[in-house]
Amino acid sequence: MTKLSKRDQVWRKLDEHAHRISDLDLNQLLADKKRFTDSHLQLEHLLVDWSRQIVDQPIVDLLNQLAVESRVYQFLLRMSRGDQVNDTEARAATHVQQRSLHTSDQSLQSMLNLAGGIRRGSLCGHSGKLFTDVVNVGIGGSHLGPEMVYRALVQRRGPRIHFLSNAHPSARSEILSALNPDSTLFIVASKSYGTFETLDNARFIRQWMNERVPPDADLANHFIHVTSNPDEITNNETVLRVPSSIGGRFSLWSAMGLVIAIAFGVDVYQDLHAGARSMDHHVFETTDVAHNLALKLAMLAVWNTNVLNTESHLILPYDPRLQLLPAYLQQLEMESNGKSISRDGEPVNWHTSPIVWGGIETDGQHAYHQLLHQGTRKYSADIIVTRSNGSQKDNTNIDDWILANAVAQSTVMFAGNQESSDPGFKNIEGRHGSTIFVLNELNAFSLGALIALYEHKVASLGHLWNINSFDQWGVEAGKRLADDVYGFLHHGEAQNIPATTADLLYKIKKI
Ligand code: F6P
Repeated sequence: MTKLSKRDQVWRKLDEHAHRISDLDLNQLLADKKRFTDSHLQLEHLLVDWSRQIVDQPIVDLLNQLAVESRVYQFLLRMSRGDQVNDTEARAATHVQQRSLHTSDQSLQSMLNLAGGIRRGSLCGHSGKLFTDVVNVGIGGSHLGPEMVYRALVQRRGPRIHFLSNAHPSARSEILSALNPDSTLFIVASKSYGTFETLDNARFIRQWMNERVPPDADLANHFIHVTSNPDEITNNETVLRVPSSIGGRFSLWSAMGLVIAIAFGVDVYQDLHAGARSMDHHVFETTDVAHNLALKLAMLAVWNTNVLNTESHLILPYDPRLQLLPAYLQQLEMESNGKSISRDGEPVNWHTSPIVWGGIETDGQHAYHQLLHQGTRKYSADIIVTRSNGSQKDNTNIDDWILANAVAQSTVMFAGNQESSDPGFKNIEGRHGSTIFVLNELNAFSLGALIALYEHKVASLGHLWNINSFDQWGVEAGKRLADDVYGFLHHGEAQNIPATTADLLYKIKKI
């Protein structure tokens, strides 16, 4: 019998505790007067309460021990110092360094200067008109972060902002039909400068412009390129460089944030950085895993995913300004940790990222909460509440009503609702863990802190699952096959096209 490593002994004990807690009346845990005190952390702008996770102190102690045995904190420090943590691409992951006050990325300062100039009107279109509209043309990490932040902060004080990510004709026409080519600035945002959707949208836009301006118009001011491959741009248009060690889904903190700085001003963009830095300070200065929020969230995710075998993890913002947060976190979590090959090149034999999904609340309560409360699926949830509504006195009641719903839903997920008098079809089992995040105000600082917290949780999970959170080889296969299918559709090239695919395409083309 081989001697189990300390780490494996902890895993075995966690399984034993899962059986123990499965028989526990969770209402007793809720009634424990010490539980909230032991199960929350309050930072400057953020309260995080995990008292409705399916854990008690012995389990929390074991999870902390697992974090220590796995040296997760030390991994985060290595990442923050710029060590190579992305072995398949031989790169560091420098998003933390990117937002430090001593960042070496000169392009960030160029971006801020450019954004300031555009807002002051020092840059204008070919006919001398100021820019009234700015279109961010990008997809994935070159779009999701910028648009999520834009929708969250809302009170823009600059040009109208638009986001074009999809190459579908309807997306193009919806945006371009409302624009004046003389006063529109286009940001072509692509780290690789090789993403079909973005390059084809840029090509389409350039043609759209050429059809609407005089033949001798100088369009150089109308296009700014944000990329890690500046050599791809051969004309005299402005290029802002993104360091290649900044992953697309981590690129908000680089020149990829140009559209945010234009929309809200350099000061608000720098507040986003400051909020993330405040979270970095917490994470990198808190060596005690029991009080390190990123490690806490990662260990709870390991408990849910690898011990309780949850299949999905929900992001439930109770504020419509965070409507794009679930989509942003889908890429951050699932493109980082949706992996099945370990850093040693071997198949893993444990679950890695759950399916991340969600939606704004309380809308979801009228859509999918039936499944959450009486379905057969195992899940965990992050419930995110903001409290600034109370600042307008007439909103205080609705502010409290929203909070009441968030807490009630979390409680029912946890403890169910077994009214003994209720017939079986009304019973709710519960036993789903959720964490409540309360932002005392939704602003650039608190949003930056929240984003950084999720980034550190994701990196911690990648280390715990022994996978590389910073590459994304899985997305390449689909792109290559799409090129083959496109070649068949347009040029009849049949290699790599199986009969069923060819038959389907023939059928569609005849419609
Ligand atoms: O295909 C996935 C992906 O590479 C993401 O990782 C990235 O954020 C997105 O596509 C866009 O890539 P780029 O910024 O290079 O256009």
